[in-house]
Amino acid sequence: MKVLVVGNGGREHALAWKIGRSSRVDRVFVAPGNAGTAIDCENVAVASDDIAGLVKFAKSNEIDITVVGPEIPLCMGVVDAFETEGLRVFGPSKAAAQLEGSKVFCKNVLRSADVPTADFHEFRDASSAERFVNERYSETPDDVPLVVKADGLAAGKGAIVCNTRDEVLEAIDQIARRREFGSAGDRMIIEDRMSGTEASILAITDGRTILTLPPAEDHKRAHDNDAGPNTGGMGAYCPTPSIDEKTLSWVDEHVLVPTVHVMKRQRNPFRGILYAGLMLTPQGPRVLEYNVRFGDPECQPLLFRLKTDLIDVIEATVDRRLDQIGPLEWDNRPSICVVMASEGYPTAYEKGRVIRGLEEAAQLPDVKVFHAGTTHDAGQNVVTNGGRVLGVTAMGDSISAAKLQAYKAVKCIRWDGAWCRKDISDKAIATT
Ligand code: GLY
Repeated sequence: MKVLVVGNGGREHALAWKIGRSSRVDRVFVAPGNAGTAIDCENVAVASDDIAGLVKFAKSNEIDITVVGPEIPLCMGVVDAFETEGLRVFGPSKAAAQLEGSKVFCKNVLRSADVPTADFHEFRDASSAERFVNERYSETPDDVPLVVKADGLAAGKGAIVCNTRDEVLEAIDQIARRREFGSAGDRMIIEDRMSGTEASILAITDGRTILTLPPAEDHKRAHDNDAGPNTGGMGAYCPTPSIDEKTLSWVDEHVLVPTVHVMKRQRNPFRGILYAGLMLTPQGPRVLEYNVRFGDPECQPLLFRLKTDLIDVIEATVDRRLDQIGPLEWDNRPSICVVMASEGYPTAYEKGRVIRGLEEAAQLPDVKVFHAGTTHDAGQNVVTNGGRVLGVTAMGDSISAAKLQAYKAVKCIRWDGAWCRKDISDKAIATT
């Protein structure tokens, strides 16, 4: 069969690589892909938000199934466009993707499903939001633990965590007056800030059956010991001991099942990857947000451990027969992914630096280097083309062994300005 993967990051390289390992799959295309997907699969020069171009490619190349990686095409309605043309596609519809595309929609679903989450208020203009904050906190201006969120997609920057009234008023101004997130700020929510440890739990669902995946942990901050600015994710490992079996089944019962059920009851069934961003508070897990796709880089160590044929699971989801797929099989060994980044990331960085040592790293056992921001230059060298460049992924008999192997591979790879965090998975090592 022929499969098309949409996207160009490390997540999509991992998806395409894993799909390509199926004996049932003859060809994997990636649109637009990166240098890694060009090596393992076949790249197609169609952007991931060019919905008409993707449909045209799938039709003219008789693609059997399309798998969509990123949230933007999902929120734009790529799944609806494919289904209208009778094409099989994995991911939620535009209406269901609002779980990530609209914070207001997500909060209303959580409320209807009685899923634990922070209390919130919705606003359409700055003045009413400011009035609410000033009235509610008239006596405690210096301790205002709130989160102000732009309703729409804002490249991961639309949730502003505040401590004081000035910070809250500044966040409202940024979203609703200065319009820094454009139309994503047409509406906003203000919710109570929660404290605890953040964790994410991902599941695959066909709208009825839910298969919960082993928990993976991301490292969002740029520098070691969770210091520095937020990034797209500097590394991840799987499984994480921060979510035990008891918490996992609690989240299944009190978060995932009611959410999927309410979506179905509202005649807006959710099919695809449901990613619950959680805060583990002293009162129990609370949902911070939903994403409607695999996390990046969590996807890389997760799929590296998956033994079940991914295309079987994807097809069963699309055909709404996920109940016929047995429990997913996983390699017992833990895995970790270390992101190697460009100098300057997460702010400005240069592109086009030649990457060396990839072949050497690929020869190490239990290692796979997933590409993210890479491309080929005119001389066919693999060069940097983004902030997060590579996701060096490895497995080992323990988390420490997996870490050792991943950093051994990192050492083989070099380009001008390459850097990475040195402490990926240390939290897990400390608790095991
Ligand atoms: N790693 C976080 C995300 O993909 O949103």
